[in-house]
Amino acid sequence: MALASIILCAGKSTRMKSEYSKMLHSICGKPLCFWPVNKAVSLGSQPTIIVVGHQAKEVEAVLVKNFKNLTFALQSEQKGTGHAVQIAVEALGKFSGTVLVLCGDTPMLNQASLEKLCHLQKSKKAALALVTTTLKNPTGYGRILRDDYGHIIDVIEESEATLKQKKIQEINAGIYAFDAGFLKNRIHDLKPSRIKNEFYLTDLIAKAAETNHVLSISVLENEALGINDRIQLAYAEKILQKEINQNWMSKGVTLIDPDTTYISDEAKLGEDVTLEPGVHLRGKCEIAKGVHISAGSILTDTIVEENARIHPYSICEQAFIGKNSEIGPFVRLRPGAHLENSVKIGNFVEVKKSKFKSGSKANHLAYIGDTEVGEKTNIGAGTITCNYDGFKKHKTNLGKNVFIGSNSTLVAPLVVEDDAYVAAGSTLTKDVPKDALAIGRSRQENKKDYAKKIKKKFFDR
Ligand code: UD1
Ligand code: MG
Repeated sequence: MALASIILCAGKSTRMKSEYSKMLHSICGKPLCFWPVNKAVSLGSQPTIIVVGHQAKEVEAVLVKNFKNLTFALQSEQKGTGHAVQIAVEALGKFSGTVLVLCGDTPMLNQASLEKLCHLQKSKKAALALVTTTLKNPTGYGRILRDDYGHIIDVIEESEATLKQKKIQEINAGIYAFDAGFLKNRIHDLKPSRIKNEFYLTDLIAKAAETNHVLSISVLENEALGINDRIQLAYAEKILQKEINQNWMSKGVTLIDPDTTYISDEAKLGEDVTLEPGVHLRGKCEIAKGVHISAGSILTDTIVEENARIHPYSICEQAFIGKNSEIGPFVRLRPGAHLENSVKIGNFVEVKKSKFKSGSKANHLAYIGDTEVGEKTNIGAGTITCNYDGFKKHKTNLGKNVFIGSNSTLVAPLVVEDDAYVAAGSTLTKDVPKDALAIGRSRQENKKDYAKKIKKKFFDR
């Protein structure tokens, strides 16, 4: 079906009481305006016209980050929803078909409801079909006025409504499917409203009703929720998150306490993943089957492979955790932390831009930055890679089967070759050759005897 859409995102957001346009406030990790635009794009709308105005550049920037092929129309003065559509219709050009008009502050629309709405308008060749719902407390919304036969004859805004009209519980959700011809012909007939002196898009409803039946579909109240203040914002976040969580549970993911589990819309999870209370998956996380993430862990843009285990309160950002690896509790993986299979990173270890090859370990209290750790290498408690000399970052390269004793300081650039052994408390400023024993400044014992004991060649660092 030929479908175009206009999404209104230019409003001043006064009720949000914020320095930022409400379009930029986030719900489930995405800006508010992302949600309706995403629905229109998924329906195959072309063109998809976004009206921007208040903080236009910022709103445009967040949308361009998420979608291709949007058309932006600038409403430099915000003179109401009708005025916003007047500005957008030019970009429709010669388009004929259905024009879906959505408010940027209505994030919970259901795709199926939108399809039903467009189909209704098209199949009945109606000038307009719109979405309504019935609310216990309709305050703030436009009320639907119907005649004795139940036909919609107008929508009256809260500010213009009489006391009697304010009692009407059926409200306008601000979601419309217009016939393109009707919209283009009549949008410029709007007059400023009596009280607020704005051009109301809702005044077009009475114009459509003059010649044609205005059709409607009714949806559940959550779908119609418009976000005008922070209370509605928090409520919408809860509902959307609940939907995301229920979707994952139906696909075989265990959420021990769904009310405290936050999963971004972009995350992907496999079967038999378990998320304990307070887990957050932000951005584009990919969690493979059988992974168990314990309480309070926060992962952002992180990939976790099959059967890995994340113990409580671990924080991971742009990290990769290989199969059967185990991290935490209290681990911090920073961008570029890459753990191959069966790696163990234990409590109070921070890893940045470093690769741990299979079977390697850093089990306690360490900082590992700009480092490559070879297979089965063990990094002792309190080890620090000194990757920054005050001017530049340098790399540390640890071979396979290396043993770094506790409390060692590895001053980069540094290479420790395969099978080398670094005694506890060492400060290394020189490379360590293969199979050698390096002993740090503060050790008192007989270095050569010690080398013999652990069967390594003594190496004087
Ligand atoms: C609007 C409807 C109301 C409906 C409600 C549903 C009108 C006049 N009223 O009221 O009937 O019940 O939505 O949520 O349409 N915007 C612009 N330019 C402007 C003004 C607004 O782009 O000059 C955008 C806003 O950014 C917002 C949308 O239009 O995304 C709706 O504006 P808002 O001020 O929230 O209208 P409501 O008072 O909620
Ligand atoms: Mg609104």
